[in-house]
Amino acid sequence: MNSLKINNISVKTEDKEILKDFSLEVNPGEIHVIMGPNGTGKSTLLNTIMGDSSYVITSGEIYYNDKLLNNLDTSDRANLGIFLGMQKPISLEGVSNADFLRTMVSSKEKENFNLMKFVKKLNEYQEKLKINKDMVSRSVNTGFSGGEIKKNEILEMYLLNPSLVMLDEIDSGLDVDSLKIVADNILDYYKESGCALLIITHYQKLLDYIKPTHVHIMKNGKIIKSGDSSLINDIEQLGYENLDTETNEI
Ligand SMILES: Nc1ncnc2c1ncn2[C@@H]1O[C@H](COP(=O)(O)OP(=O)(O)OP(=O)(O)O)[C@@H](O)[C@H]1O
Ligand SMILES: [Mg+2]
Repeated sequence: MNSLKINNISVKTEDKEILKDFSLEVNPGEIHVIMGPNGTGKSTLLNTIMGDSSYVITSGEIYYNDKLLNNLDTSDRANLGIFLGMQKPISLEGVSNADFLRTMVSSKEKENFNLMKFVKKLNEYQEKLKINKDMVSRSVNTGFSGGEIKKNEILEMYLLNPSLVMLDEIDSGLDVDSLKIVADNILDYYKESGCALLIITHYQKLLDYIKPTHVHIMKNGKIIKSGDSSLINDIEQLGYENLDTETNEI
């Protein structure tokens, strides 16, 4: 089974420890949401799962589908079916988005890559996401609006067909209509693929569309409380400072 298992990891960058003895398990079909104050280590967690070399795992293990990820590079992790929609995706001036997407898919599919099939899918997903046609001929994320950058992440998700979809603030910078389009497409993909979702957000609105099965609150590099979707209302009403962390439902 394609389960993500994080066992007691501690993670540091240069001299600073960010994640402390962090554990989490995410199974296919589950929708996990992590919320928490700025600077608490949420992006660090997803970047570490994806294999960003700025982050060093000093103890603990990450497994996907029973395979140890700790020493695998990012492309190996992507080939296992792990996808990260980044909080701040990089821009690549001079590299056309179409070339970038094609290279990404062909390096995953290797000898099975079929250009006609790729172009057909690209057109289909662009229409679903209501993305301007000219966006594929422009340089990757260069001069894209905030909303276009986020839609491009979902386009990548579709094309890579992952079994674990991690989305880091996919809702930031989206207008109300774009938010609905992005949320609908995430849900469509989730239902069609049976993937697991691991979502980071600061806002309840996205979660009105995508109802989580598990909600976690993270503070200072650790999960301090877990529960079902009712926890979202508690956060809205009480804020992180006033939440009762004694009644942890883990
Ligand atoms: N590459 C890095 N080098 C140095 N410090 C880093 C690095 N990445 C993260 N940090 C620090 O680690 C802490 C956690 O950062 P992270 O981006 O994981 O927070 P976050 O919970 O995602 O916050 P936000 O809600 O603002 O996105 C912050 O203090 C940040 O400055
Ligand atoms: Mg972040």
